[in-house]
Amino acid sequence: MTLDRGCIRWHLCHMVCFSVCQVVELVVENCRSSDGEVEGLTDEYTNLESLCMMNVGISSLSKLPSLPKLQKLEVSDNSISGGLDVLVEKCPNLTYLNLSGNKIKEMSSIKPLQNLKNLKGLDLVGCDVTSPDDFRDNAFELLPQITYLDGFDREDNEVPDSENDDDDDDDDEEAGPPDDDDDEEEDGSEGEVGLSYLMKEGIQVSLWVFVAFLGVGQSSES
Ligand SMILES: *[C@@H]1O[C@H](CO)[C@@H](O)[C@H](O)[C@H]1NC(C)=O
Ligand SMILES: *[C@@H]1O[C@H](CO)[C@@H](O)[C@H](O)[C@H]1NC(C)=O
Repeated sequence: MTLDRGCIRWHLCHMVCFSVCQVVELVVENCRSSDGEVEGLTDEYTNLESLCMMNVGISSLSKLPSLPKLQKLEVSDNSISGGLDVLVEKCPNLTYLNLSGNKIKEMSSIKPLQNLKNLKGLDLVGCDVTSPDDFRDNAFELLPQITYLDGFDREDNEVPDSENDDDDDDDDEEAGPPDDDDDEEEDGSEGEVGLSYLMKEGIQVSLWVFVAFLGVGQSSES
């Protein structure tokens, strides 16, 4: 098995995560999975609240470990076509799921998401399932718990502030400062975790700086 730089960083990150054991957010991007399955994640990540595995070449989520606290899962730009029932079992607390750019073709493939009772946001942009004209109506009917589909609600209102996409209902969770300037697009509008969240997780930020540092050290050696 050959490891490119992204993979090395991934593995280093895993090592650090294990020693810290408090990791709440994990971002794995552009590292190819060797067999289309989720690699390296284990049940030890019980505190994980946010997981990003964009464009890592997975076609299946079946090896996802149990992540009871996971709220945000981004697996865009992979080749997942179904098997979403595993999410109900492994991460029942999911509030936001980004499946854009995958190979979901049938409504029946997203039916298991009915059982994700906390799901508020779902993104399927670029999946064949979204092609029919009546897709949105059908999807909202199939998944009545969802507020936002592909970034817009039932009335075609856009997600007000994409960095706060999971706090529209649970006001008791995080009473952040009111965000009046909706038109500020440039800062972290790509579904990234908001700054307030990052500051709250200051320890994680230092962890990430550490990982990035390791990554830089690694790449300058090769
Ligand atoms: C599920 O998420 C809510 C917040 O949305 C949190 O209060 C609760 O503890 C979570 N459940 C688990 C099992 O982590
Ligand atoms: C889902 O992921 C895609 C690809 O990264 C991104 O362009 C899109 O904005 C995300 N959707 C939301 C609602 O953040």
